[in-house]
Amino acid sequence: MNKTQHLYTHTYAQSERCVIDLTLSENPLGCSETVKPAIQKGLNDLHRYPHHEEPLIQALAKHHGVSPRQILIDAGANQLLEDVFRILACQKGVLTSIAVFPEPLAYIETLGGYSVTIPLKEGFHVDIDTLLKEITAEIGLIYLCNPNNPTGITTPTKEILSLTKQTQLPVVVSEAGMDFVGRSLIHKNMPSNLLVIRSFSKAYGLAGLRIGYVVAHAEMIARLKRSLSAFRVNALALKAAIAVLQDQEHLRFSIQYLLKQKQILMDEMQKLGFEVVPSEGQTFIAQVPQHFKNATDFCEKAKKHGVSVVDCSLYAGLERYIRIAPQLQEVNQRFLSILKTIVLKEEVR
Ligand SMILES: Cc1ncc(COP(=O)(O)O)c(C=O)c1O
Repeated sequence: MNKTQHLYTHTYAQSERCVIDLTLSENPLGCSETVKPAIQKGLNDLHRYPHHEEPLIQALAKHHGVSPRQILIDAGANQLLEDVFRILACQKGVLTSIAVFPEPLAYIETLGGYSVTIPLKEGFHVDIDTLLKEITAEIGLIYLCNPNNPTGITTPTKEILSLTKQTQLPVVVSEAGMDFVGRSLIHKNMPSNLLVIRSFSKAYGLAGLRIGYVVAHAEMIARLKRSLSAFRVNALALKAAIAVLQDQEHLRFSIQYLLKQKQILMDEMQKLGFEVVPSEGQTFIAQVPQHFKNATDFCEKAKKHGVSVVDCSLYAGLERYIRIAPQLQEVNQRFLSILKTIVLKEEVR
């Protein structure tokens, strides 16, 4: 068994972002117009503790067709991952894929835990069969992202459900980017060991307010609640989340827009010599052309032109890959034209 010392450290509130920044998966169109009036109303109650989670829980239960007792709200998917890891796997191993949203893995190490990582299989897919073989008494939980981060590639629902049947360990799946795919493991009769984490940061456009939720079996939710303090989410985020849920039209429009931008970026980058890996999610990865030493080399050169993308070399096997998150059309176009300059310059060297 390989205990992985994670290369990742927390990106603690980075100060400045490049003008042409394709690193973060947000909704560059912004959130629904319904949010501003909702927040405006909430401003009168800022002196009160945020007691009123119930309307959002009811709205989410209706949206997903589950019981309100299956839902717990928290300050974003990352916060939930950290809370769930602490409660269910303190000082234990977290079994996961080599390429996965890394923030909570850095956290588990601060709790005396560690991660055990499994290489991706062909086509950059998560290798569930190998994952199963690595389960030992020291493992506290299994952690997956669907779609995966950084690849944007999905793992079939039936593979994850089969995994939950073959182990009693909690299987924690971050579906932070699942709005772009339109499927979910969330169900009224979820396996008792499955926890699905969702985010309002991506397609819903509320990254700045920090709100997300976990859906699981009601007993699992009760167990989590016993270990968590009250008032985890601020009052304005609660109001905003209800508002965005009610505007599914804006959600659909945003998803369509970003997936179209993703396709344009993939096509154009392919023409420039990047080997693009198609994905179902918001983001995709691409191998940098041969004349770059590796992804780090590419990213350093891109930064000099005011462009930033994610360097995937912290993931073993992805040292030549970068991750791209589509932004507004004009930003993507500027990115592509700068990319052309960078690539041509390197080619003639
Ligand atoms: C798979 C995955 N989980 C969790 C998160 C964190 O989401 P949030 O902003 O809700 O904390 C991200 C953000 O990129 C992600 O990709």
